[in-house]
Amino acid sequence: MMSGRKNAAGRTSPWLLILISVGCFFATYNFLTMHGRGRDGPRKFLGGGDRGSYGSGSDPAKRFHVALTATDALYSQWQSRIMHYWYKEMRGRPGSDMGGFTRILHSGKPDGLMDEIPTMVVDPLPEGKDKGYIVLNRPWAFVQWLQNAKIDEEYILMAEPDHVFVKPLPNLAHGDEPAAFPFFYIKPTENEKILRKFFPEEKGPVSKIDPIGNSPVIIKKAQLEKIAPTWMNVSLKMKEDQETDKAFGWVLEMYAYAVASALHGVHHSLRKDFMIQPPWDLKTDNTFIIHYTYGCDYTMKGQLTYGKIGEWRFDKRSYLQSPPPRNLSLPPPGVPESVVTLVKMVNEATANIPGWEDDR
Ligand SMILES: *[C@@H]1O[C@H](CO)[C@@H](O)[C@H](O)[C@H]1NC(C)=O
Ligand SMILES: *[C@@H]1O[C@H](CO)[C@@H](O)[C@H](O)[C@H]1NC(C)=O
Repeated sequence: MMSGRKNAAGRTSPWLLILISVGCFFATYNFLTMHGRGRDGPRKFLGGGDRGSYGSGSDPAKRFHVALTATDALYSQWQSRIMHYWYKEMRGRPGSDMGGFTRILHSGKPDGLMDEIPTMVVDPLPEGKDKGYIVLNRPWAFVQWLQNAKIDEEYILMAEPDHVFVKPLPNLAHGDEPAAFPFFYIKPTENEKILRKFFPEEKGPVSKIDPIGNSPVIIKKAQLEKIAPTWMNVSLKMKEDQETDKAFGWVLEMYAYAVASALHGVHHSLRKDFMIQPPWDLKTDNTFIIHYTYGCDYTMKGQLTYGKIGEWRFDKRSYLQSPPPRNLSLPPPGVPESVVTLVKMVNEATANIPGWEDDR
């Protein structure tokens, strides 16, 4: 059964595959450099991404680069467009330490958003390596980006397409202590037996592993440069280990980041105010990011019908085939402010992004 599932790539050492991929990567890189120069210069594709105007009061030493890992799937594209729109709106406002922006596109080739969003194309993992679990490409994407991009800022925010900035985001990290959002479902101490395969006794108690994923995290670039290769290693090993794969499922890659950072002795300060997740969190007044990963389903009386399709709904998964249309209907009265704000912000972005409904 196992050997039937494994292809040739599955048996090769991951490091050999990485070497091969690095070769392919430089081919892509050179191609893009040429391509970029032929059009409007390499800056759009490479380097530190977007160097726009920043908040005048912001201390350059505290600025962080916004790094968004994404794919060329339509579903990832429309979310990335909204995410980038709100970054542009917020970065220049007082209180922001937001610096440049790069979409790290791990589909291996440019897509239709290259002129809209500062993007660096990186390679996906070798065929079959992600075993259908696309997010396993994230650590490898960060490794390639950190090795090859010129990043002006000392800090990095790891962000995801379904993040919407509701406020200008300050640098929540303090020196060498990065900041992360604690996820209630990441429970290192309840998974000691499995985690010990990747976090040996001599490293200390598994409680040293923070209950986090890689995003959202604001971290020093120098720290991420050390963590990212380990994160990639750990995530591939976890995916190859059947027991771990089964136990962690879709949050495997989050555990991999948590373990990798702990292996490097990096502890994150846990910031619950980093983001909120509607419909569970009701208000936006004490947060910076809305993460719209859960569906929001309500009756017309404003009652949550979670898990059951509501008479009114906003769920990103409704838009796998086409982006959400402009001017979505607002929720009925009684729906929490967080959900109302989310839909208003989606509408504002889609109203102002040129060519929103065009094919990309
Ligand atoms: C990654 O894994 C390989 C093989 O298991 C190991 O030799 C290497 O030292 C690891 N590298 C990092 C950065 O963890
Ligand atoms: C948006 O839709 C509402 C009805 O849901 C309508 O009254 C309004 O005029 C629309 N706005 C725009 C800009 O199309």
